[in-house]
Amino acid sequence: MIIKPKGCYDLSKFDAKIYLNIEQIVHSYMNVYNYKYIRTPVFENSELFKRGVGETTDIVQKETYDFTDRSGRSLTLRPEGTASVVRSYIENKDYADIRPISKYYYIGTMYRYERPGQGRNREFTQFGVEALGSDDPLIDAEIISLSVNILKELGLDPVVKINNLGGKEDRENYKKALVKYLKPHINDFCSDCQKRIKTNPLRILDCKIDDKNEILKKAPNVLDYQSKESQARFKDVLQYLDYLDVDYEIDSNLVRGLDYYDYMVYELQVDNGLALGGGGRYNNLVKTLDGPDTPAVGFACGIERIINLIKEKAKDFSNIDVFIMAINKEEKMKANIIMQDLRLNGISVETDYLNKGLKSQFKDADKYNAKNLIILNSEDLKKGLINVKDNITKEEVKVPEDEIVDYILGII
Ligand code: HAM
Repeated sequence: MIIKPKGCYDLSKFDAKIYLNIEQIVHSYMNVYNYKYIRTPVFENSELFKRGVGETTDIVQKETYDFTDRSGRSLTLRPEGTASVVRSYIENKDYADIRPISKYYYIGTMYRYERPGQGRNREFTQFGVEALGSDDPLIDAEIISLSVNILKELGLDPVVKINNLGGKEDRENYKKALVKYLKPHINDFCSDCQKRIKTNPLRILDCKIDDKNEILKKAPNVLDYQSKESQARFKDVLQYLDYLDVDYEIDSNLVRGLDYYDYMVYELQVDNGLALGGGGRYNNLVKTLDGPDTPAVGFACGIERIINLIKEKAKDFSNIDVFIMAINKEEKMKANIIMQDLRLNGISVETDYLNKGLKSQFKDADKYNAKNLIILNSEDLKKGLINVKDNITKEEVKVPEDEIVDYILGII
């Protein structure tokens, strides 16, 4: 038997239903917030992620799926969506568009060679947004509240952890102070952090191995190294969030795993510390990738992590509105027509296709979580009546055949 690759999964059955429901909610929120759908390739030239996500990040160093195609090109399965959207924005000259700023959203699979488990897959799906062309803190607040609102609609209540990494100069000053402080203690840190002090010292702050290290508690705080301009814009973001009633916690150790961020960064976390989503501002990425100087901000959320959390509560998604029971040919002919009428009116309907007896059909209706049963019988049909049973209260009524669609629409 051939099995699926490690860290991948088949999306089917109940999970697939929840997934589609999430997709639908994402599409409708993006529509009202006026983000436009974009689909970029699943693989890109490897250089895009090296330059975009950053050579020294864990993602590029240890987690990308890189391969050479038959013509010797070096390609990489995308580990995230931001670099690709920015590449597309530059390549298609979207900055010359008539629209004042470019707001994109995407839903797609990403690939990271991570150790599978605890909400980590090697193939996973993100929905995300990228807003390019504005440096206004108003849009920082918009993307944060948009992500929170989508998760709330899905029945989740994540904590917004937020931080300010500042501009280039602020970060350089902070980096120097952090390295100076950590250097004498670096042997007390994991081997990765011992490398990071040279390559990417900020990442030591949110190392999963060293996060409880006492030395980190007294480390210099990034918020103390911000210019007046950076402090003011962060204050504005927070104020907009206050007005939108979005709760947040400032977490000065939040640095995120991608190199392109500056100024505001945030994560949406749940009780167990797992991030459902995250993002932030990246005002230098478009320029780094050879585009015009363009400020930008965005976020992405992991759909599998969301599915795992809402699975229990989401039982309702798996209901069908009606199960139609029919035994003989005459009843099946009628079922055939009624099913089409109901379905064309947006009512979900299932029936028996295995010629089972009535008792087994009752059991099958329960297996489908049918909310209502239509139990056809030849006697009632002769009188033009349809027998409808509420499968929860068990109440039964006889409805005139020509009123059946309206009746069902009225009770679901
Ligand atoms: P990220 O934090 O690397 O950000 O990923 C966003 C979300 O994707 C995570 O919070 C998590 O829910 C999900 N995720 C990441 N890795 C995995 C995995 N191995 N298995 C399952 N789920 C995972 C980004 O990717 C940025 N591009 C976000 C962004 C957009 N920043 C600005 N614009």
